[in-house]
Amino acid sequence: MHAVLLADEDDFEGWRDSARGLAIAGVPPRDVTWQVGQGGGELFGDEAPPPAADGPAFAVPRAFLTLAQTVICHSDPERFALLYTLLCRIRSNSKAMEDGADAIVQRLERMAKEVRRDMHKMHAFLRFREVAEEGAERFVAWFEPDHHIVRATAGFFVRRFAGMRWSILTPELSIHWDGERLTEGPGAARADAPSGDPVEETWKTYYSSIFNPARLKVGAMLKEMPKKYWKNMPETALVAPLIAGAQGREAAMVEASKRKLSEAEVQGLATADKAERRLQPGSNALAAWEAILADAKACTHCHLYKHATQTVFGEGPLDARIMFVGEQPGDQEDLAGRPFVGPAGQLFDRALGEAGVDRTQTYVTNAVKHFKFERRGKRRIHQKPEAPEIEACRWWIEQERTLIRPPVTVALGATAARSLFGRVMTISRVRGEPLELPDGGEAWVTVHPSFLLRLPDPDKKRDEYARFVEDLARIGQRAKALG
Ligand code: URA
Repeated sequence: MHAVLLADEDDFEGWRDSARGLAIAGVPPRDVTWQVGQGGGELFGDEAPPPAADGPAFAVPRAFLTLAQTVICHSDPERFALLYTLLCRIRSNSKAMEDGADAIVQRLERMAKEVRRDMHKMHAFLRFREVAEEGAERFVAWFEPDHHIVRATAGFFVRRFAGMRWSILTPELSIHWDGERLTEGPGAARADAPSGDPVEETWKTYYSSIFNPARLKVGAMLKEMPKKYWKNMPETALVAPLIAGAQGREAAMVEASKRKLSEAEVQGLATADKAERRLQPGSNALAAWEAILADAKACTHCHLYKHATQTVFGEGPLDARIMFVGEQPGDQEDLAGRPFVGPAGQLFDRALGEAGVDRTQTYVTNAVKHFKFERRGKRRIHQKPEAPEIEACRWWIEQERTLIRPPVTVALGATAARSLFGRVMTISRVRGEPLELPDGGEAWVTVHPSFLLRLPDPDKKRDEYARFVEDLARIGQRAKALG
């Protein structure tokens, strides 16, 4: 027997090194025990530590490593052994992971999904509160994740709140960011985090100065926030009356947000008005969407707003079964204030028609909401958005998805895929199959209509266009099948 002692619950490197040594030595899964702790001879008994990995190296599919890195964060104590079992199978059959009917593969994938959902909840529902500390600003949040995800999510909070000093306290671990360095401390108790006075004003000011006016959370909260997180969130105070059916407040919200819009903008919302009729009377969805729209119109998250004519937000029914996400508005969209109305939009409309998908039943939006261009004389030449611009705009697309919760989200091209998945993706590798988004939703990836417009060879253009129509038709059928 061999016993592996891992340093931490999420010790992926420790698991990987031990698993590699064990697999090279041909140790079967039943001869290995996995433990987490500080180490101590008594833990091992007669068991030997794992052999060093000194045999010939062996390759595993990248998908396995990605799966293992995620599953390691799960709270199920069997995760280490299950992953090692799958690793041993992969050694003798490199396609072992592709057997979707295999019970271990299924179980590990389910665990990975649960971890991703937990991470998504932490991203979305963690709330900082300001604490006074030596005259300096510091923000502290309390959170109780279901899995061992704190280290894995730290990078997200560092990127989003790089300029602040903050701590995240959880029962297992605390992490602290001083503006430059991330450090760790022991777990904490709820009582260690600021509570009582919800410092709602501070919270609102803080978030609105970064990206998140409190009211924007209304839609998210009504749609998907588990009650478990409510006690940590000051804006629950805003939601309770809405949930209790405070119609007056809702109506005022709708009116107030409509007043902020020009006539042309209200016209642009015609499709949303249709949606309102379809949604249940008293639904908060339209009010929340309009609130988001009003804030997006004033967005200054990145520099692009300075030169663009206006924010081009998504449009379509709020109960759409499909959400299409493009790259960014082009020249004509920037002037019209609506997505996909220029040449790429016309090609898109034609392809949708041939695929049997009714655009008016879909929600169409972009990863980046402002037109990025370079001026050449009188012309404005499209420029591809860079990662920081995509990142800054992800907030809006997350709000749109949270509110609409389309059964199928479609990334049109690489920028949209980068925005939805939070990482660079190669379209040809992921095209034509359902993929899981970090929040658990289903996404499909296909090419951007502009790619088709740019193809110089007519035969290639025709073939690629036909493939695009095929993709759209499959997506349409999938959305129908999902009900
Ligand atoms: N290209 C896009 O990605 N979006 C638009 O809205 C128009 C062109």
